[in-house]
Amino acid sequence: MLDAKIEKSRVAAVYRKIAPSYDLWARLTESKARDRCLELADIGDGENVLEVAVGTGLAFERILQINPSGRNEGIDLTEAMLARAKRKAAESGAKNYRLRVGDAYELDFPNDAFDVLINNYMFDLLPEQDFPAVLEEFKRVLRPDGRLAMVNMTQGERWYNGIWERIYRINPAWLGGCRGVLLLPYLETSGFVQIRREYVSQFTFPSEIICAKTGGSM
Ligand SMILES: C[S@@+](CC[C@H](N)C(=O)[O-])C[C@H]1O[C@@H](n2cnc3c(N)ncnc32)[C@H](O)[C@@H]1O
Repeated sequence: MLDAKIEKSRVAAVYRKIAPSYDLWARLTESKARDRCLELADIGDGENVLEVAVGTGLAFERILQINPSGRNEGIDLTEAMLARAKRKAAESGAKNYRLRVGDAYELDFPNDAFDVLINNYMFDLLPEQDFPAVLEEFKRVLRPDGRLAMVNMTQGERWYNGIWERIYRINPAWLGGCRGVLLLPYLETSGFVQIRREYVSQFTFPSEIICAKTGGSM
């Protein structure tokens, strides 16, 4: 796995620049994986749902449609990304949501608060040594038997996927600091169960979708 190159203190500045063009990029290269993630998350109406790193709200606007009578929370480190998510949510007419600035490392929610946690294209910009602590934080806010569904840029399975690694090596900021990661071993060691991984390539951009459960209470 390549090293993360954008420190947390720089994330908001990098994403403030990317925010205006993010949706075009995301629809071209990430939409298949993002849609599949929501399918596998299998959110039922009435559930408590948290999306961490909500970005411009591409998944969050779908979550609001799927969960019209539940509770929907979204957080992100970057106000400029969040502003776009807030616009989409307001246009949807939904009232059962809250979007605010927050940090995946220290979620401002009590233990066992959510049935489902969605997190797309965030671990691929975090340092690998931080993966266990952030997964532990996700587990803390999920109830026993809660569902985690995530997407990340991953390592490509075909020669042509290598283009993305070359771009990252030239300038990580062009990819928003995202590089290919493999989350599966980290979920296993963090005690998640029923772990499932799918691989998707869209316009040569490689993504992994990972779903898992927190396991039952003792
Ligand atoms: C590549 S974008 C993905 C946005 C969205 N999840 C999507 O799939 O369209 C990465 C997002 O992660 C957010 N982010 C990065 N580190 C974070 C952290 N520690 N806590 C919360 N959000 C974070 C960034 O601000 C940015 O909006």
